[in-house]
Amino acid sequence: MATAKAHTNIALVKYWGKKDQDMIIPQTDSLSLTLDEFYTTTKVTFDDQLSSDQVSINSNLLGDQASQKVRNFLDLVRKMSGTTAFARVESQNHVPTAAGLASSASAFAALAGAASRAAGLNLDRRDLSRLARRGSGSATRSIYGGLVEWQRGHDDATSYAKPIMEEVDFGLEMLAIMVDTTAKKISSRFGMQQSVASSPYYKVWPEIVAHDMAAIKEAIAARNIDAIGEIAETNALRMHALTLSAEPGFTYFDSDTLKAMRAVRALRDNGIHCYFTMDAGPNVKVIYDRQDRQSIFKALATEFGADRLVVSKPGPGIKIWND
Ligand code: DP6
Repeated sequence: MATAKAHTNIALVKYWGKKDQDMIIPQTDSLSLTLDEFYTTTKVTFDDQLSSDQVSINSNLLGDQASQKVRNFLDLVRKMSGTTAFARVESQNHVPTAAGLASSASAFAALAGAASRAAGLNLDRRDLSRLARRGSGSATRSIYGGLVEWQRGHDDATSYAKPIMEEVDFGLEMLAIMVDTTAKKISSRFGMQQSVASSPYYKVWPEIVAHDMAAIKEAIAARNIDAIGEIAETNALRMHALTLSAEPGFTYFDSDTLKAMRAVRALRDNGIHCYFTMDAGPNVKVIYDRQDRQSIFKALATEFGADRLVVSKPGPGIKIWND
């Protein structure tokens, strides 16, 4: 039996497309910020008495279909460790209110940590990151805190995350605007597959990311939040252009997403430095220096309501313990 706590992460340079669907080898590198406010705690118990895996999230037992990805992941851990017993997986998602930001990143990172430890595997962080990757690509990066790079690699052994700056020593912060908290309609898995297969613009995406990765690493080294924000915002818009240009085209934006983007731009026009990024859903995350938190929060609260805003500092890497 073991428990792990992992925080979610938001990409500043996005992962959008796989080279290998099965092993989850991405087309490009990516880079993210781990967040303090959003995390998953998961306890895994391998038990000879069980006749199947049992998975619960926030105390609700999942049915066969909903737990399929988790059970496949447990099969992988059983294969690696030689364990034959089924497992009880008890997961708690800690997200403020009905945030709709609970991502597969913290979930699969925590599951990788708890399941591997409970099965008697003592993996180092690189191998944990490789294992988490098999559950969900973005989970690869949630093994580490702060600013993290996922090096795409070319196979299972070479595709893993590396910390860029685990303890963020400058004012980088993120605020999420929760414009919609219902479940997303097009999964990132399906959405990125469609983009790779049918967007005529996908062929330039790897070049864009290579450029953005180099630029954002320089900006991080210089602790330049404006440069980080500009790169992240442009990168996010270009990722979303891959969904609009797929066949059939689709988007994760809704009208409030556009409203939030406009609000961030308006703040910027008024001299407040902030930038936005969006993932496979309508919520908008704002990037800024913590010294501007008050003025940004105040302005966005008048438009969206304070209850829809969640401020998050950079968060820590995974913690695993034996109960
Ligand atoms: C837009 O990691 O959810 O958040 O690997 O298929 O599970 P799978 O996809 P997932 O995709 C995340 C996409 C993103 C960008 C990112 O986190 O880099």
